[in-house]
Amino acid sequence: MKLLVIGGGGREHALAWRLTQSQRVNTVFVAPGNGGTATGERMQNVDITAVADLVQFAKDNHIAFAVVGPEAPLAAGVVDAFRAEGLKIFGPTQAAAQLESSKEYAKDFMQRNHIPTAAYGSFTDAEQAKAYIREQGAPIVVKADGLAAGKGVIVAMTEQEALDAVDDMLGGGMFGEAGARVVIEEFLTGEEASFIVMCDGNHVLPMATSQDHKRLKDGDEGPNTGGMGAYSPAPIVSPTLHNRIMREVINPTLQGMAKEGIPYTGFLYAGLMIDDGPDATRPIKVLEYNCRLGDPETQPIMMRIKNDLTETFEMAFAGQLDQATIDWDRRTAIGVVMASANYPENPRLGDVIQPLPADSETCMVFHAGTTLNNNELKTSGGRVLCVTALGESIRRAQDATYATTSRIHFDGKQYRSDIGWRALPTNE
Ligand code: AMP
Ligand code: GLY
Repeated sequence: MKLLVIGGGGREHALAWRLTQSQRVNTVFVAPGNGGTATGERMQNVDITAVADLVQFAKDNHIAFAVVGPEAPLAAGVVDAFRAEGLKIFGPTQAAAQLESSKEYAKDFMQRNHIPTAAYGSFTDAEQAKAYIREQGAPIVVKADGLAAGKGVIVAMTEQEALDAVDDMLGGGMFGEAGARVVIEEFLTGEEASFIVMCDGNHVLPMATSQDHKRLKDGDEGPNTGGMGAYSPAPIVSPTLHNRIMREVINPTLQGMAKEGIPYTGFLYAGLMIDDGPDATRPIKVLEYNCRLGDPETQPIMMRIKNDLTETFEMAFAGQLDQATIDWDRRTAIGVVMASANYPENPRLGDVIQPLPADSETCMVFHAGTTLNNNELKTSGGRVLCVTALGESIRRAQDATYATTSRIHFDGKQYRSDIGWRALPTNE
């Protein structure tokens, strides 16, 4: 069979790689792909991104099914367009993708459906927004309503920072349309976890737990990024918490969407804040929904899947995810992002990447911002590579990953040296 993966980052390289492990797959097309998917075995890049072109390509090439990586094509209605032509595609419709494309929609939805989340207000008027901030006090969080490529959230430690963020978004046009409305919410404390599930409209199949590191610098300091690394499993999500997250967050989300006439299909990612306390009672709150897999969480997650993933997608298309299981490698996987100079503010592009170490069964170098030109691999984005390795323990997985990152060179490379630290046993 021929498959289509839509997107061009590390998440899509990892998805395409896992799908090509299936004996049933001849080719995984990746649109638009990157320097890694350009040369991957049984992978082929297609240089298209417009929804109409993707539909035409899938028809012309008899694609068995498509999987969508990033949020932008989902918000643009790629799933609706494929379905209108009778083509199979895994992802939420444009209406369902509002859980990510509008923070206000997501917050109102959670409130209506009694899904735990931070208290909030939603504003288009700067003066009203500021009055709310003064009333609530700092710390407080200001979020652009729309998609802002992971940059639309200001965690303000002072009232002034929050007031400035409102001016930037509502007054200054930072983030454009996405920032024409702001959600202002209560500052939450605790530890974050990513909880990702596959949905077929009625049933849910949870992915292995994972956690990303959003800050640029070691110790989770420095500016927020799209994600500097991730690991799976995330030990914070104990079996008790897993059950509670399904019961308190995931099931009510699926049921709420179905009840409101917008059945949710595709990957659903709940970004959670888990406060201190015993697992049976510690507060779990939803920070955000993403209507797709996380990047870089996908890279370690794909590394741990042992079964034929095409079959899992087919169970989803058949509405049978309640009968599906995934065979997880019990080892830990860690993905370390190697970013370009000046990431995240103003990533420098065009640096030459020296020849990469060969991939192995336990260590893969997934590409994100790379392009291949005349056999020369160059950086073409902020996040360049995600080196992902398996190990018997978190420490072993770290050792394996960092043994490979240290052999990779391009000018200006930056990467964290402590991915997974929160998961290390406390006595280390
Ligand atoms: P989001 O895109 O909504 O997940 O926000 C990006 C990051 O900002 C999250 O991963 C958190 O680290 C932080 N954040 C978002 N909302 C809150 C909140 N209400 N309280 C504290 N931190 C938050
Ligand atoms: N790693 C966070 C995200 O994909 O949004």
